[in-house]
Amino acid sequence: MEIFKTKDALKAYLKPLKASGKIIALVPTMGALHNGHISLIKLAQENADIIICSIFVNPTQFTDPKDLEKYPRPIEHDLAMLENAGCNGVFMPDVTEMYPSDKTEHWHIDLGRAEFLLEGEFRKGHYQGVTQIVKKLFDAVEPNIAMFGQKDFQQVLMIKNMLTHFNLPIKIFTCPIIREDDGLAMSSRNIHLSASDRTHALVLNKSLQFVLDNYNNYSLTELQEKAKNFYNGIKDVELDYFVIANGDTLEPATSKNEKNQVALVAAKVGTTRLIDNMIIN
Ligand code: PAF
Repeated sequence: MEIFKTKDALKAYLKPLKASGKIIALVPTMGALHNGHISLIKLAQENADIIICSIFVNPTQFTDPKDLEKYPRPIEHDLAMLENAGCNGVFMPDVTEMYPSDKTEHWHIDLGRAEFLLEGEFRKGHYQGVTQIVKKLFDAVEPNIAMFGQKDFQQVLMIKNMLTHFNLPIKIFTCPIIREDDGLAMSSRNIHLSASDRTHALVLNKSLQFVLDNYNNYSLTELQEKAKNFYNGIKDVELDYFVIANGDTLEPATSKNEKNQVALVAAKVGTTRLIDNMIIN
């Protein structure tokens, strides 16, 4: 497995591969890898010849500097996981490589109204930062395909909107959420959960599963009310939102006849903010 610190080195490696017609996949990550990330690598291997994984903790997408500071960076462990998974190359630039002038460089694109809903309401500017770095990574790799996890449902939508904005010919794959045996969605942030937080965090999966299992038994309003009730009285768990939304616009679903509905949730468990979702139809 090759490791690249600069865009130039990465481009030099990819140039002959592209010239010989190889399909290139990019798996962008911020490291602290888990089996969810490895499932992205595996799906990439089924659809491409050369897999590049990027590991870059992107400062411009953090709204809370403390969150950026405490973001886990177990780099040796990450590299071992990628090597085992058969990844071809890892791009691990420094901040100055991605933001040569300084990290406040201007970036603003129209991502549509959905940018300001759900996560966008709680993390102002987050998706501008995400799309800024993903565009830079796309420019560095110029992949044919790129893989993202469904767990960050809104992120995938924003990245697709960014692709449309720049008219980029990259096919996006959305990979299913990988869960622990007890249902908790895998996340790099789970490492911050204490033993009791870890138990309390199961409420996210349970409330989403309730909606899926009971979708035909109640109205949309009842389903959301009942799902929210799961959070009542659970110590150290604070619900930010639970919504059944239109998966294209992220506006609350207004009728069961709407296609592409998804239930999305965000909650703070102890000091860790978790998100999760389940596609309904
Ligand atoms: O999902 C992530 O890990 C990040 O938001 C991404 C897409 C790698 C951009 O920094």
